[in-house]
Amino acid sequence: MSLQERNATEKVLDARERYVAAGVSTPPLVVARAEGARIEDVDGNTYIDFAGGLGCQNTGHGLPAVVSAIHEQADRYLHQCFMVGMYEPYVEVCRRLAELSPCRGEQQKSILLNSGAEAVENAVKIARAATGRPAVVVFDRAFHGRTLLTMTMTSKVVPYKRGFGPFAPEVYRAPAPYPYRGVTTDDAIHELEVLFKADVDPQSVACVVLEPVQGEGGFVDMPLDFPPRLQELCQRYGILYVDDEVQAGVGRTGPVWAIEHYGVEPDLLVSGKSLGGGLPLAGVTGRAEIVDAVPAGGLGGTFGGNPLACAAALAVLDEVSSEGFRRRADEIGERLRVGLEAIRERVDFVGEVRGIGPMLALELVEDRGTKTPASALASATTAAARERGLILLSCGLYGNVIRILVPLVVSDEDLDRGLELLEEALVDAGTRAT
Ligand SMILES: Cc1ncc(COP(=O)(O)O)c(C=O)c1O
Repeated sequence: MSLQERNATEKVLDARERYVAAGVSTPPLVVARAEGARIEDVDGNTYIDFAGGLGCQNTGHGLPAVVSAIHEQADRYLHQCFMVGMYEPYVEVCRRLAELSPCRGEQQKSILLNSGAEAVENAVKIARAATGRPAVVVFDRAFHGRTLLTMTMTSKVVPYKRGFGPFAPEVYRAPAPYPYRGVTTDDAIHELEVLFKADVDPQSVACVVLEPVQGEGGFVDMPLDFPPRLQELCQRYGILYVDDEVQAGVGRTGPVWAIEHYGVEPDLLVSGKSLGGGLPLAGVTGRAEIVDAVPAGGLGGTFGGNPLACAAALAVLDEVSSEGFRRRADEIGERLRVGLEAIRERVDFVGEVRGIGPMLALELVEDRGTKTPASALASATTAAARERGLILLSCGLYGNVIRILVPLVVSDEDLDRGLELLEEALVDAGTRAT
């Protein structure tokens, strides 16, 4: 792409440099419009979108049902604050979340919030109030957000923690399974038991918080036996199981919730990202006796459960719970996996293809024997992909994992073309590195 073709982009980049905080990391992409799984930039270049607004567009950019629900709601009222004047869309989202809840218990209740981090914070508040215990157990490679408590719970120093201490107390960390790097379910359960002997009394743990497929941490899907064994341990000690599905939920892995693959009924579910169809919305859902442990006034917030976001979420939840969506998500997952496995056979620095359904990733390594993380190759791949017209994201503790969060409305043609561009970008990055 020549600089002339990037006039409008350059202008925004200059203004961004001048006025926007450096701490927000941004790519050289300025979006003008987006539809389905396609993005167009301000210079008229089009891209296939394998990033979906960082996992917030599982139902695609501008799903007509979502857009018209937002328009209709905008004509009625934009904001009330649920603590000042209640409104039906908020209550309806909670009713739908109850119907779709994977959590244990008959009667399910929810609170709605603005972001994943805020929802995780609220899940911890609820768990502490319900158990009367202070401690929280999280896992290696976890990402739960950027607020004080959630950055403490997050497991990556740079860029999320360096310089931002002191951190919140009573957060303990255990290894999570990572079969590609030799950490098994047995190892993880054993280490958790050691944590309970060495560092924290299990009787003072309010909750464990686990992503069924770790997102920012490298798209590491938990082995099928880990969540059930973790739940057994939780039940033994009266610890609540909090399922953080901010990234893996709302249809990302096929079913509405990723935990459905595991046959586990968590105590609390945290949802976010795609829930609002592109508007900020997150939730905490669980059985009434737990959620209602917090008395009136203990939970809330000015904007949480904004009416526009709730109207959008009702359309999103209808879509992701439909048979057609599930069928297509499964098809996309299979097509992607076949394509990615073929790439792994041809590109020797692809160490592993992993994930569940269409939530898939490639881990890049310098050498398949040593498995040394190939971080620079991953960033060169995302840059080369963008130059070719494919929006891709990396993730992982070492930034060496290429993840796919393609909107699950993508056409087969764009999916196949995206895979071709991904392979070209990998080969290009590999060539530049040698
Ligand atoms: C699993 C998980 N939890 C929590 C969060 C935080 O969400 P938010 O960025 O909306 O605060 C994220 C964000 O990526 C996430 O992936």
